[in-house]
Amino acid sequence: MAKLWGGRFQKSTDKKVDDFNSSIRFDKRMYKQDIKGSIAHARMLRRQDIIPQEDADKITAELENILADIEAGKIEFEVDAEDIHMNIEKILTERIGDAGKRLHTGRSRNDQVALDIRMYLMDETGVVEEMLVHALTVLVDMAAEHTETIMPGYTHLQKAQPVTFAHHLMAYFEMFKRDLSRLTDCKKRMNVMPLGSGALAGTTYPLDRESVAEELGFDGVTMNSLDGVSDRDFVIELASCLSIIMMHMSRFSEELILWSSHEFSFVEPDDAFSTGSSIMPQKKNPDVAELIRGKTGRVYGHLMGLLTTMKGLPLAYNKDMQEDKEPIFDALDTVKLCLPVFCDMLATMTVKKDNMLRGAKGGFTNATDVADYLVKKGLPFREAHAVVGRMVFYAIEHNKSLDELTTDEFKEFSDIIENDIYDAISMETCVNDRKLIGGPAKETVEKAINKAREFLENR
Ligand code: ARG
Repeated sequence: MAKLWGGRFQKSTDKKVDDFNSSIRFDKRMYKQDIKGSIAHARMLRRQDIIPQEDADKITAELENILADIEAGKIEFEVDAEDIHMNIEKILTERIGDAGKRLHTGRSRNDQVALDIRMYLMDETGVVEEMLVHALTVLVDMAAEHTETIMPGYTHLQKAQPVTFAHHLMAYFEMFKRDLSRLTDCKKRMNVMPLGSGALAGTTYPLDRESVAEELGFDGVTMNSLDGVSDRDFVIELASCLSIIMMHMSRFSEELILWSSHEFSFVEPDDAFSTGSSIMPQKKNPDVAELIRGKTGRVYGHLMGLLTTMKGLPLAYNKDMQEDKEPIFDALDTVKLCLPVFCDMLATMTVKKDNMLRGAKGGFTNATDVADYLVKKGLPFREAHAVVGRMVFYAIEHNKSLDELTTDEFKEFSDIIENDIYDAISMETCVNDRKLIGGPAKETVEKAINKAREFLENR
């Protein structure tokens, strides 16, 4: 097949090279952005008297038809036409002749692809943002139901201090909220229009870049033609944002996997969100959470791949940069696949409140509160810490929890301890006395939930 750029060649491309070079099988997903960009470019060429009105009209009308035909599944793209940009231009020219050949005036595929990928990634980032908002809503709704569900908090995966499940859920709310703001921020830097950069050095045609930016809804135009076609930092930045989202989902997934083990039994995934074993009849496996954890690796891999692809490239465009698409598309697809299933898995699981409470009561999670009790009665904290340390040792030896010690036993360690100790170190007091901003107390978490709801309503 004759190439759009075939003039200076004597031979046709080797078949293997055609296949090797071609990106249509993955960049065809940018067809809508490519067409939108071309329509804006053609209209501007007309406004600037670079192409005649008649040609501009033909181009824009036919590009609309091509868009409709692609969406109706009527178009077969060709590997030989290399990529989405040349496939569409070729179809256009087949349909309207010379007018189609005028579209590419003052434009290069280098700035065209830089435009398309920006527009595509901004659209997709918007989809991920909405999914994150849904995740935030799920977390808040669940948290509202569990402000009194006491569970052990851990450090080093050793029981530390009691918290509530609502507090734990709201911790993830904060993380996903930051993920959302990272995406919004990342979009700002994508939001500059590169057409007019040409192949690398701009163009001699009097293009009106700003009007194209405005028509396409961009905030502004790129300020250096070399940079406009050369960098893919915004792709890498998005891959980084997506990696962090996966990291957050993966950590919660890991917790759910642990918690659904017999040893913890804090939660049980719904039947519809778990699977059985082909050999062991008793099994109910948290596959969904495991797969989310597993897929996190591939998204990280894409981030590293993109960084590595770009690391040694001299300015300006290099064909290596065609390798930006598959990783970022797969990273997006993966996040878009994981977020909804993650939300539904969370919302449908059974929370075993009694086991959580039992878990909180074991492991001396109120030891800090015994020390704080002594401090409130006048003992310096370091001394109180040592006293309670000895108490814990005693309690372990006698197979008791701290609140199972009698007043007499308590007095052996410190005679300032009175009967009010039991109230002071109950799980409820431990949680609900921590009412400072950010704490797990019911009233504090309720405030956090209200703020979260306000945030979701006002965005
Ligand atoms: N398919 C190419 C890419 O994705 C488009 C730009 C190609 N430009 C070129 N001069 N070969 O990067």
